[in-house]
Amino acid sequence: MTPLEIQKNREIFLDYCRKYIQRDGLEKLLTYIESTDFFTAPSSTKFHLNTPGGLCKHCINVFETAMQINEHILLPRQQREESIFPQPLSTESIAIVALFHDVCKCNIYKEVDRWRKNDAGKWETYKGYEVNDEFPFGHGEKSCHMVNYYLRLKRDELLAIRWHMGMFDVGESGSANRFSFYSAMEITPLVVLMQMADMASSHWFEQTFSPGGDI
Ligand SMILES: [Fe+2]
Ligand SMILES: [Fe+2]
Repeated sequence: MTPLEIQKNREIFLDYCRKYIQRDGLEKLLTYIESTDFFTAPSSTKFHLNTPGGLCKHCINVFETAMQINEHILLPRQQREESIFPQPLSTESIAIVALFHDVCKCNIYKEVDRWRKNDAGKWETYKGYEVNDEFPFGHGEKSCHMVNYYLRLKRDELLAIRWHMGMFDVGESGSANRFSFYSAMEITPLVVLMQMADMASSHWFEQTFSPGGDI
């Protein structure tokens, strides 16, 4: 991603936050975010948007996708009284969970030199990332903790951020984790909305860059 694209995404992200979130503590949370590498970090080491600026772009994608799924799939069904969950979701809650679900990834990706053989069979270095997490508290759990330090999260928002990884984060069958995961999905449609938006964004819209290609 170019510096200009990174700058543009930063503005889009901040605009979405200030337009859709009115809760006390937002500005403090944004000040914290600005003090991290959130706007320049990749979204992953090897997979979706593993390029500078990928993390912010991913959060924008998840928010826009969640809003579209809500507007075009969930809300119309709720209005026709065809949903198990009659109460429409608040846009503020969708914005909070989508825009901040991955803040746990701030300051954990370190740029490293890696080695590979080029087409001529010669060894060469390329820039890659590795994870160095100084607070390995769990993925969704860590984001909940970080966001809740600044913004007072509601129960449904905590559940949606905690379980946004869906089945990738539930442990073996019969585990207490799995029971909590299924229970959370029965409490609020926000949990499944976040899982869908995160998965759709990562796999439908977000490119994986070849090693060294764009980093
Ligand atoms: Fe995540
Ligand atoms: Fe994500």
